[in-house]
Amino acid sequence: MSQENSRSKLLSGRFSEATDAFVQEFTASIQFDKRMYRQDIEGSRAHAKMLTKVGVLNDEELASILTGLNEVEADIEAGRLEWSVALEDVHMNIEARLTDKIGLAGKKLHTGRSRNDQVATDIRLYLRDEMEPILAQLQRLMEALLDQANNNAEVIMPGFTHLQTAQPVTFGHHLLAWFEMLMRDADRLLDCRKRFNVLPLGAAALAGTSYPIDRFYTAELLGFAAPTENSLDSVSDRDFAIEFCAAGALIMTHLSRFSEELVLWASAQFDFIDLPDRFCTGSSIMPQKKNPDVPELVRGKTGRVNGNLISMLTLMKSQPLAYNKDNQEDKEPLFDTIDTLLGCLRAFADMMPAVTAKQEVMYAAAKQGFSTATDLADYLVCKGLPFRDAHEVVGKAVQFGVQEGRDLSEMSLAELQGFSAIIREDVFEVLTLEGSVASRDHIGGTAPKQVKQAVVRGRQRLQALLQ
Ligand code: ARG
Repeated sequence: MSQENSRSKLLSGRFSEATDAFVQEFTASIQFDKRMYRQDIEGSRAHAKMLTKVGVLNDEELASILTGLNEVEADIEAGRLEWSVALEDVHMNIEARLTDKIGLAGKKLHTGRSRNDQVATDIRLYLRDEMEPILAQLQRLMEALLDQANNNAEVIMPGFTHLQTAQPVTFGHHLLAWFEMLMRDADRLLDCRKRFNVLPLGAAALAGTSYPIDRFYTAELLGFAAPTENSLDSVSDRDFAIEFCAAGALIMTHLSRFSEELVLWASAQFDFIDLPDRFCTGSSIMPQKKNPDVPELVRGKTGRVNGNLISMLTLMKSQPLAYNKDNQEDKEPLFDTIDTLLGCLRAFADMMPAVTAKQEVMYAAAKQGFSTATDLADYLVCKGLPFRDAHEVVGKAVQFGVQEGRDLSEMSLAELQGFSAIIREDVFEVLTLEGSVASRDHIGGTAPKQVKQAVVRGRQRLQALLQ
């Protein structure tokens, strides 16, 4: 290790022996926190400007720091900066490079701040930046679902409970259920941003600083809503990252449910949809296979994102105030959640517009399993029978249908009247799949008309949420 690049140069004045080489590697975070270099530099620019405003730095020092930081950023982007493990993390690597370039003024940059408030700031800035592409992919996916729902508003499929045929629904309605889950997910992300978009810088190591800093000014420069209220809390809590990971885990949990349905529907047994070839792969041994790899992989990746949430909660648990080195462990799960979300949402947003419904298969499946049995019961109730009695009558009719291998709509009027004399010719209107779905004609219902209206409202709600 060169003296120039050694940790002792920056902060080990009080040590009488060099850090053990393994310990140095073990305690470093540069391997993963270097990805926050842009935010680290942005934070330093704002800090230097604030220090100048309050008279701690002079204009020449500021000018040289800003020029130096621009150069460091350019070096990093051109791959000219070799990250040093000896310099532990992104903060010290950048500061050391700056000081190499501009000398004395570089050493003054760290006045009135600590890596503790610096890293708490960097993570917030980084998360804020990364949330944009995540929201953009979420939006693409939601728009694709709205389009598909609109195009499939009249397509009838079996609706399931317990994965047993329950009642007919429209495919559009089913897709809008997914849309609703994602709407809440997007709302959760935006909500968590509200809480973390505050400035910890100025908390310094834990107690604040004796310099006459102007935290409101720094907050304004960095686009934060306000400075944080308590210095101890500012440097120690990572609840905001936990919240993001929780919102991410819910997104993945939702995607895993969509994935599961796509995998089932694409199987020969269901055969409800066609997944485009470009989202599938073949088997190395079975020539006939077309595997739904993308949804399968998304379903599988839910595990790591849910795991990241548990890692974050557990690393925070029982930590005494204020900053502890434990917190360095927040980054990998957080970054992994960000990367995984981006990839999975993108894959789904690319894939969903290309999924096609096999309408005849869905329709035939909806006809099986006595999916209009509830409609018959409701019909009897309308004719004056108490619901419990109607339930009993229809149960008998279904039993007969099972024995005969016939659907309710395939029985004659006389046969149906054998179960209840109040049944009339108009019963066949409710026993058809079209009649069944059309009758669920209220907000939140599966009627094609309602689906179309829900799509229109969905577009407006999405726009209002993400404007
Ligand atoms: N690399 C550290 C982290 O990620 C930066 C803060 C270190 N502060 C300290 N006092 N050692 O948390």
